[in-house]
Amino acid sequence: MRKTLRKQQIQRTVLSKGADVLASENHKGTEKYIQHGDVSVREHTISVACMCVSIAQKLHLNLDYYALVRGALLHDYFLYDWHDKDHPKRHGWKHASIALENAADDFSINPVEADMIKKHMFPFNLTAVPRYRETVILTVADKVCSFKETFSKPFYSDVIDNIEDNV
Ligand SMILES: [Fe+2]
Ligand SMILES: [Fe+2]
Repeated sequence: MRKTLRKQQIQRTVLSKGADVLASENHKGTEKYIQHGDVSVREHTISVACMCVSIAQKLHLNLDYYALVRGALLHDYFLYDWHDKDHPKRHGWKHASIALENAADDFSINPVEADMIKKHMFPFNLTAVPRYRETVILTVADKVCSFKETFSKPFYSDVIDNIEDNV
C-alpha cells in the first residue's frame, strides 16, 4: 500500500513538472528510437525521471523538482537512432551536448537543467563534472535504469504506462 502511494506521488510529480516536455511532439517522437534492449528513449527518460524523484524523496532532499524532472526527461534528447549506421560518430561522448542543443531549441532551459543534460555521463566523461545535486542524482539514476533496461523491462514500467495514458 505504501509502495503504491509512493508510486502515485512519483507519477504526479513527473506528470506535473514535466507536462510540457511529455506533451511535445519531439519528446513523443523519441518513442521510435531504441535506447537499451527493447526500451525506447522515451520510456528510458520517463523511467529515469521517476527514479530521480524517488531518490530525492528517499533522501529527503529539498531540490528543484521542476528542474530534476525536466533535466531527466531531456537528458537523452539527441533525437536520432544511435543504432543507425549514419548516426553522429562517438555517440557516447557527444550525445549529451547534442541533447542540450536540442533541448535549448525546443524549451526554456534553466542552468540546473542544462548542467544535468550536459553532464549526465559523468564519470565516463571526466571533463563534465556535475555542479548541482540534481545532476548527481541524474548520473546515478541514469546508470541504475540503463543497467536494468539492458536485461529487462524498465523500472516504473507501470508508472510509465499511466503517464502515457495521461499526457
Ligand atoms: Fe545518455
Ligand atoms: Fe540515459
